Amino acid sequence: RRWQSSLPQLDHVDRSDEESGGEIDWDNLGFGLTPTDYMYVMRSSPEDLGAFPRGELCRYGNIELSPSSGVLNYAQGLFEGMKAYRRPGRAGYTLFRPEENARRMQHGAERMCMPAPSVDQFVSAVKETVVANRRWVPPQGKGALYLRPLLMGSGPILGLAPAPEYTFLIYAAPVGNYFKEGLAPINLVVDDEFHRAMPGGTGGVKTIANYAPVLKAQMNAKSKGFTDVLYLDAVHKRYLEEVSSCNVFVVKGGVVATPATRGTILPGITRKSVVELARDRGYKVTASLNLSLVPFVHRAHNFQQQLTVPYRTTLISSGLAEQVEERLVSIDDLIDADEVFCTGTAVVVAPVSTVTYQGRRHEFRTGPDTVAQELYTTLTSIQMGLAEDNKGWTVAV
Ligand code: COI
Repeated sequence: RRWQSSLPQLDHVDRSDEESGGEIDWDNLGFGLTPTDYMYVMRSSPEDLGAFPRGELCRYGNIELSPSSGVLNYAQGLFEGMKAYRRPGRAGYTLFRPEENARRMQHGAERMCMPAPSVDQFVSAVKETVVANRRWVPPQGKGALYLRPLLMGSGPILGLAPAPEYTFLIYAAPVGNYFKEGLAPINLVVDDEFHRAMPGGTGGVKTIANYAPVLKAQMNAKSKGFTDVLYLDAVHKRYLEEVSSCNVFVVKGGVVATPATRGTILPGITRKSVVELARDRGYKVTASLNLSLVPFVHRAHNFQQQLTVPYRTTLISSGLAEQVEERLVSIDDLIDADEVFCTGTAVVVAPVSTVTYQGRRHEFRTGPDTVAQELYTTLTSIQMGLAEDNKGWTVAV
């Protein structure tokens, strides 16, 4: 096993030092990469028959990959994003719904023909990575330790086929706000040339292959002063999908709407949590179906009428239960909305002040008395351990 020699090995992980990352400017963290001390690595070889027999912490550093590895040649890879917060007034750290990330990775692995760690293996590995890098967890209120689990076809393959060997790896970095705007509202542009995903593709799983294709659109947008890009569905070029790195919500009156996850949209864990919190707080939450994945809709002239057919399974599986009203979130709905905001692990809940579509700039409400602000506070209070978690979402480390 040649790869083993390439990993920076540890004799043991010293868990005794509780000093913090001294040289870090905790007030200006942003979302840049600050290398930390340890990473977790686990491999699955052909003789392991799809299991990951054991993993270990090793020094954070470069890994050796075959030039013909499945991930380098055919993008056979997935990633996750998670955060650990320092617990206020108590020792230890808090993770947010880590088993959801584990399950999402398993689901993505099935799509990408890869074996995946069990939920227990995944969550234990995340905990070990947090503990080993604990001096890099930012002080309360300054940010979080971002965990980046990766799963990749690391074995060599030349003809197009699943790789013979897989590597699961978790590294960590302290992070603050994702967008350069910090917590200030962001400005999006709708790109009508590029799309993020198409029906039958991999938009609904967190494969690495979904991210490089948006760079071009993102760079174009940034060069014109926008924060990021909002993508429309690839079939009708009319219905909201998501932003490059996060899900999108629109608010009109007491109704909060987000496109449903039907294969082209990433099923965000923050998205799902925000839907539940919004409902708890008395908002009517609607999740639209992703039109492009509903085959009969392609034949229909009146999409809205067709979509009154109830999609019980969709709604139950996405955790939205039966009271959820189904409708599409079109670009016209967005233009008519009071508020727009984005959700994601990195992004948390980010208010959107403007969306530019076909050269016209549309403005939305932002600030202290908005639904976005209310949901941001409610969510982050739970995540940071400032409010009681009566949903059982947080996991102590
Ligand atoms: C996250 O929010 O954790 C993500 O994975 C998005 C990534 C592009 C930063």
